[in-house]
Amino acid sequence: MFLSDNNSGVHPEIIKALSFVNDKGHDFPYENDYETKEVERKIREVFQSDIAELFLTTTGTSANAIALASILHSYEAVICTDVAHINTDECGAFEKLTGSKILPVRNKNGKLSISDAETYLKQLGDVHRVQPRIISISQVTELGTVYSLDEIREVVDFAHENDLLVHVDGARIANAAVSLNCSLPKMITYSCVDLLSFGGTKNGMMFGEAVISFNKKASKKLPFMRKQFGHLISKMRFVSAQFSAYLEGDLWRQNAANANNMAKYLYEKIKNFKGVEIVYPVDANMFFVRLPESVISELAKKYNFYIIDKKTNLARFVTSFDTQKEEIDVFVKDIKRLVD
Ligand SMILES: Cc1ncc(COP(=O)(O)O)c(C=O)c1O
Repeated sequence: MFLSDNNSGVHPEIIKALSFVNDKGHDFPYENDYETKEVERKIREVFQSDIAELFLTTTGTSANAIALASILHSYEAVICTDVAHINTDECGAFEKLTGSKILPVRNKNGKLSISDAETYLKQLGDVHRVQPRIISISQVTELGTVYSLDEIREVVDFAHENDLLVHVDGARIANAAVSLNCSLPKMITYSCVDLLSFGGTKNGMMFGEAVISFNKKASKKLPFMRKQFGHLISKMRFVSAQFSAYLEGDLWRQNAANANNMAKYLYEKIKNFKGVEIVYPVDANMFFVRLPESVISELAKKYNFYIIDKKTNLARFVTSFDTQKEEIDVFVKDIKRLVD
């Protein structure tokens, strides 16, 4: 129940949209359909950008690899944190598909710091070293924290001043926007981010991720990269229809708000319990917590959640768009009983 937002089901509005497009019958494949044209228009409207180009996919891993491949030559590299999903949890998809290298920097509460990234600039121009070309940050980070708008701009300014581009892994971008109480253009477009992996699956869609490019050069290569990597879905209208419903009436925001609120609620309830240590700031819909070993093992008999590190009794709790307060109340009661 608290394992991942991937464990949740699909929002009824998304199911309705899928059903609606199915009932319409046959349509042209490979994005030559009405739904895809419509969602491409909506993306430009939502992100308030004339140049935003949308490339739909079905997994976050493919979105990240396709986005980065549209920029990098094989001798170029991406700078990201050591805990970045592209570095730790994508089975080397980035390396396999781009032939490029990752230059990791240590994270601080999940975030990348400019001074650490800067150390890699020394190798620019050195023929013996890969050439840093892009910085990738995750928003929300893999440790559940959220970059502030200033922090994002600092990364972008640093990158652009040094002729690097910026990619945002936004598998949970909706949760970040809710956390910052800001719009998507404010966080992404006006911050001059070049490429965004825009997540939907974790926040109420059935399957749907996308690359949004704000960089014309990348946009030229992206359709070919996506096809070559096997992610130009023939019946793409079923992904497009989901995104349309997701963007309609700010469903994305409502879903993320519930997930974030529930994480905050759980955090507030347990933060002062004996033996409970919250490890990183709780900014969005997941957090990391140390609990006594006996508590973790008892809880694990009844609930699903990741035990990140058995040695240090570190666990991760994630809430979803459909998490209910009542579920948390029962969970909290169980934790309380075990820690007392
Ligand atoms: C930050 C982040 N990026 C990317 C992904 C990849 O998504 P997928 O599992 O759909 O490939 C995930 C999935 O957990 C993630 O947490």
